[in-house]
Amino acid sequence: MTIKTKLLSVALGLAVVMPSFTAVANPTAGVLSECMACHTVSEPSEMTLGERMNRIGPSLYYAGNKFKQAWLEKWLQNPTRLYPAGVFFGQYVEVTDEGDFVFEEDLVSHPKLNEQQAKETTAALFTLKAKSGLAAETSPGEIKNVSRRMGEMNFRKFKACASCHQDVVGEGGVSGPELYTAFERLQLTYLISYMKNPVAWEPKSLMPNQHLKQKDIEKLVGYLKTIAEEAQ
Ligand code: HEC
Ligand code: HEC
Repeated sequence: MTIKTKLLSVALGLAVVMPSFTAVANPTAGVLSECMACHTVSEPSEMTLGERMNRIGPSLYYAGNKFKQAWLEKWLQNPTRLYPAGVFFGQYVEVTDEGDFVFEEDLVSHPKLNEQQAKETTAALFTLKAKSGLAAETSPGEIKNVSRRMGEMNFRKFKACASCHQDVVGEGGVSGPELYTAFERLQLTYLISYMKNPVAWEPKSLMPNQHLKQKDIEKLVGYLKTIAEEAQ
């Protein structure tokens, strides 16, 4: 099977159904208790590189400043693959002469929630508001669509984002999360602020700070907007 078809089969639902939650006094802690086996839901005082490499799921303690609510509610019911090679690149990848080979069958299948659980969980995640200062200091600017061809050239060649990120399903690097749904998935202030300074959000982010200017960031976000709209 090619990598592309395998990815698709993973995306199309190897996810398992999660057992229903038990009711406890603190609704947020109760709803998210099942998630804490794989995710951090409160800000860690410090994260070592070792912890970053071994963590199973991305940080959720600033979820309320990161995700778009509508996307979150939908995704929790029907999770698609976001990190094509797992949250730590290297764990599921073999580098060969023909390129990087991903062992997709070993990747974690995300628990799947029903509609009610997804609503409650989204509400609980939106109470996790660490990093509000970063979101508040970011001015969204004016995000315009860009020409598909110029945007792609900029993303892939000039800024080299494609060495780590996919802008089309199955095309691009696998060490970072896919970005073809990024505009639909992420709040605008997060997108801009993260590109400006990744470690401000994730102290051990594996993304290098490319010291992008606001104008460059707006163009890149314009491209993410264009490809997300095309993908719908
Ligand atoms: C068995 C481990 C595991 C459990 C349990 C789990 N997750 Fe995840 N979660 C992951 C992994 C791995 C990813 C990355 C998925 C991917 O790349 O497709 C992820 C991704 C996510 C994302 C997207 C994160 C991002 O930064 O893009 C959200 C939101 C999320 N999980 C929420 C939850 C919630 C809410 C729960 C509890 C109801 C939960 N998860 C339970 C492992 C888990
Ligand atoms: C060397 C690899 C690398 C390069 C080059 C890179 N990134 Fe990243 N990027 C990452 C990784 C890895 C993450 C996730 C952070 C982590 O888990 O450490 C990330 C995260 C992101 C996020 C946040 C997405 C999310 O779901 O939270 C955005 C937005 C992003 N990158 C945009 C870009 C853009 C635009 C470029 C080009 C200017 C770029 N990146 C270049 C590796 C890279």
